[in-house]
Amino acid sequence: MNTATSLPDQTIRSIQITGAQRQLFNSTLDKVAQKTSQDEPTLGVEFPHVTAPDGAWVKMPASLSAGYTGDAWSHGNWLCGFWVGVLLVSYLHTNNQKYLTWARERMRLVAQRAEDPNTHDIGFIFDSSAIPGYTITGDRWYADFALAAADKLRARIITTRGGAYLASWGPLDDPRGRCSSAIDTMANLSLLYWAANYSNDQSYRLAATAHADMTANAFIRADDSTYHAVEYDLVSGERKRGYTFQGAGDESAWSRGQCWAIYGYINSARETGQRKYLDLAERLAHYYVKRLEGRQVPPWDFDATGADAGIKDTAAAAVASSALIELGRLHPDPAAAAAWTERGLATLEALCRDEFANEASHRGLLKNSCYSKPHNDGVRSATMFGDFFFVEALCRVMMPGKFRPQAKTRFDAA
Ligand code: GLY
Repeated sequence: MNTATSLPDQTIRSIQITGAQRQLFNSTLDKVAQKTSQDEPTLGVEFPHVTAPDGAWVKMPASLSAGYTGDAWSHGNWLCGFWVGVLLVSYLHTNNQKYLTWARERMRLVAQRAEDPNTHDIGFIFDSSAIPGYTITGDRWYADFALAAADKLRARIITTRGGAYLASWGPLDDPRGRCSSAIDTMANLSLLYWAANYSNDQSYRLAATAHADMTANAFIRADDSTYHAVEYDLVSGERKRGYTFQGAGDESAWSRGQCWAIYGYINSARETGQRKYLDLAERLAHYYVKRLEGRQVPPWDFDATGADAGIKDTAAAAVASSALIELGRLHPDPAAAAAWTERGLATLEALCRDEFANEASHRGLLKNSCYSKPHNDGVRSATMFGDFFFVEALCRVMMPGKFRPQAKTRFDAA
């Protein structure tokens, strides 16, 4: 086993922030640690999911696995790892051992999900918990869970004549799950890249890049917006249809999906050094910025109409902020790098200033996230994944390289 990346070195660009930004981000991390410490003793064996209209957490056990009941699909508890991640960020910020103890105890409750064969969300669960746990402590106890989970994610690869992709949902012997993939999976590839670096087994990286390539062909529309999900022909690999599960319509631009794609292609660029992924991430980000029309927080779907168009998604903004700060760190062109960093920081500032849940009755960190408008679940709420990507963005700025391995990548000339 080794932890070294095989990629060649390039100077890591450090992120320059103003004194006012430093103060804002630091005081926000103080509040994160405080709220986390207040919530942890109230959770029992369950985990925060989304907040209810009264601001209280709706909780779920980690053991709730994804699966079908008849025709009804449940994502199960794919958010449990994010709580471990927020505890670990609180530890890094405060250096208070209690957060590390809590994170380890919570990890024990999450660990059983490393055997879940039914969902790509295994990437989210362990990338947010076991990988930071290992990065921070160096304890292989964490790494073993992440590697077991990466095996399950790699096993979801479906090979067709036109390429290979990771099936997102469901048991692989169920045709409904086998033929479908979601844009969210791009953000789950981080687990495979980490596993390739950790174990030096490049099959994890091959699975991740095959998926990234097939998604680039099938999910990106002519205007650089993205489909939420694609149903493939299992033999040819042709897209049979693009559709949505949480967006306003099959042809609409679901904002969080766009952000998952940006995030996933930036990670793919960093972990492979392939310029084509960086260029694609940039095109997707340009589309996102264009549709923001000057806002920092997008609507839940850029094509939502009527009153629905006023419903925001701070989780999408948090994912975008984290991704664009990373794009700024990696981009080989200094002017483009500075512009993306500025954009990511501006969003992060807006989230800290305008969307942080300061009221004691509103648990969670960010107000106005939107888990699923079509299912009326977690609308105008805090969501555990939004909170995680928000603190990940804060870490990228305030504690670079402490929360996650920070690979150094040299890109080929464009
Ligand atoms: N399943 C990921 C999301 O709701 O964005």
